[in-house]
Amino acid sequence: MPSEHKPLIDPFGRAISYLRVSVTDRCDLRCVYCMQENMVFLPRDELLTFEELERLGRIFIRLGTKKLRITGGEPLVRRDVMRLIDTLGQELGANGLAELTLTTNGSQLTRHAAGLAAAGVRRINVSLDTLDADRFRAVTRGGRLQQTLDGLEAARAAGLRVKINTVALRDVNEDEFDDLIAWCGRQGFDLCLIETMPLGETGEDRVNQYLPLSLVRARLQHRWTLARDDTPGLEGVAPGPARYWRVAETGQRIGFITPLTEHFCDSCNRVRLTCTGTLFLCLGQDDQADLRTPLRDGATDVEMEAIIRAAVARKPKAHDFIIDREQPTTKIARHMSMTGG
Ligand code: 5AD
Ligand code: SF4
Repeated sequence: MPSEHKPLIDPFGRAISYLRVSVTDRCDLRCVYCMQENMVFLPRDELLTFEELERLGRIFIRLGTKKLRITGGEPLVRRDVMRLIDTLGQELGANGLAELTLTTNGSQLTRHAAGLAAAGVRRINVSLDTLDADRFRAVTRGGRLQQTLDGLEAARAAGLRVKINTVALRDVNEDEFDDLIAWCGRQGFDLCLIETMPLGETGEDRVNQYLPLSLVRARLQHRWTLARDDTPGLEGVAPGPARYWRVAETGQRIGFITPLTEHFCDSCNRVRLTCTGTLFLCLGQDDQADLRTPLRDGATDVEMEAIIRAAVARKPKAHDFIIDREQPTTKIARHMSMTGG
């Protein structure tokens, strides 16, 4: 059979059907667990152009990518991102993508929500760690909560389904999860709590920020009736590394992404492309393949496919994140804004 019909399968039998593309390392916020206050961003000529992103997207789709997520940094601060989303939206369909989606901080959604829906985006993830304006300003180092809330309203008006991503932070938002669950229930949003991962220097103490979600879930179960609900996602797309529960009182789902207390690398279905064209095989390992150099050296699609297959053959079995006093800093120097969560 032609090579593009052979699915991308890694050495551990995992089918790679999900591509995450970080289109920029820039962001209009500076979340304390994600970035340093004074981040130095990449020079623009390091970034893949719109044409390069589009071409790689199509190559991955031919190789069996069913779900494609645009991330950053904040993807909506990149000027030509809507053009990319429009173009990739044309790949949606039975033989192409099953889902095109986006992770955003919501700050630009009032401008872009309708365009996203028109391009074929149905669901988006919006990062929001607190519903308190002062806390929001502190966690994001200067952001305005209302801007994100307005963005969420625009998403709803455009008919987009929303999942809120909340990084669980000790002493910062751990007293707010009940409120967030109730608020998401009222808004009709799903919620996903995420353990803070040791990626890149942030100028903050991760040991102090880290809150194990095993604890949180036990606490939440006193107040809420949670029933496991891992309704499989899309056809042909393996479940990702989150575990979901249905909150009986609100009818919405709550997910837990627990890379530290319990990882689900066995069911990993994804690889990540950075905005400079480096393919990372695992969020928590350094294994990578440079796709930009061959792309700029004129490699054909067939050659690019071979390079991608060879990279997937090196996908690590699992990450080995750890946060403790003995090893307070991370061995992974890059920030989440490079690989997009
Ligand atoms: N650990 C966990 N989550 C992070 N995010 C950014 N940096 C980190 C980190 N170090 C989250 C953002 C967003 C998602 C893409 O990743 O809040 O919701
Ligand atoms: Fe920006 Fe998201 Fe990082 Fe916050 S977590 S600084 S919103 S990229």
